Amino acid sequence: MSAPVPEDTQLQPLREALAQAWPGLRLEWRKEVDSTNLELMRRARAGEAEPVLLVAQRQTAGRGRLGRAWQSAQQVQDPAASLTFSLGLPLAPQDWSGLSLAVGVSVAESLDADGAAGLRLKWPNDLWVQQRKLGGILIETAALAAERVRRYVVIGIGLNIGERPGTDMRTPPAWVRQWWPQATPLGALAALAPALAGEVRRFEHAGFAPVQPRFAARDALMGQDVHLSDGREGRCEGVGPGGELRVRTAQGLEEISSAEVSVRPRGMAL
Ligand code: BTN
Repeated sequence: MSAPVPEDTQLQPLREALAQAWPGLRLEWRKEVDSTNLELMRRARAGEAEPVLLVAQRQTAGRGRLGRAWQSAQQVQDPAASLTFSLGLPLAPQDWSGLSLAVGVSVAESLDADGAAGLRLKWPNDLWVQQRKLGGILIETAALAAERVRRYVVIGIGLNIGERPGTDMRTPPAWVRQWWPQATPLGALAALAPALAGEVRRFEHAGFAPVQPRFAARDALMGQDVHLSDGREGRCEGVGPGGELRVRTAQGLEEISSAEVSVRPRGMAL
């Protein structure tokens, strides 16, 4: 079972807001794809480098970080209970580090502007509400033929909109309707996507450093004792200007920038 694709008239205001945020940015809403990230990466490799926001009502092979699968709530329960999309853009920042953190900050600020919902960011790219996972971000890039500076970036985001059971999940879930009872996938997308495109544009010119204080205001790991998947343990001291996680271990202050390392507060399973 899947929810109907929204009508063109319902999508029109969002189309206009997106085109204002990023000239030429097109909205494509599909009933089903294997993975919105995979689809845009395939297109980029085939030479299609248009700015596009691809939404899938249903993904049959959603992908998460570290080679994990991403299973949307709609596949489990309510057909409108999740939002899965990828934003594909040609981009040429001087430094890519911290992009996923800037994306998380933008999404968190759009969905929880005053912080009342307690939406926090768990380095490097999880959206958390009270140590429960609201969503995740998966960023991939592809080279563009005949371009030396720009790459095509695919920013994939999966968010729980409606309630979902937490069984078989590594981190128990949170969902947007916990503080926004009427939330829909389209409503949430309209609330966050134009601002996200603007955030990525600013990142391209200014990098992560100006976003660092905004990340700090929502940093779920700040001051927490954590263990890392590579065996290290320590206490988090925030993120640096390049988006690296600072962890005070027995060996001193360590800076973790590898997205291959996962971090969990002590007491949560890795
Ligand atoms: C994670 O938490 O591991 C990241 C999850 C990212 C999931 C989104 S859903 C839309 C896009 N398409 C995918 O296949 N993955 C991302």
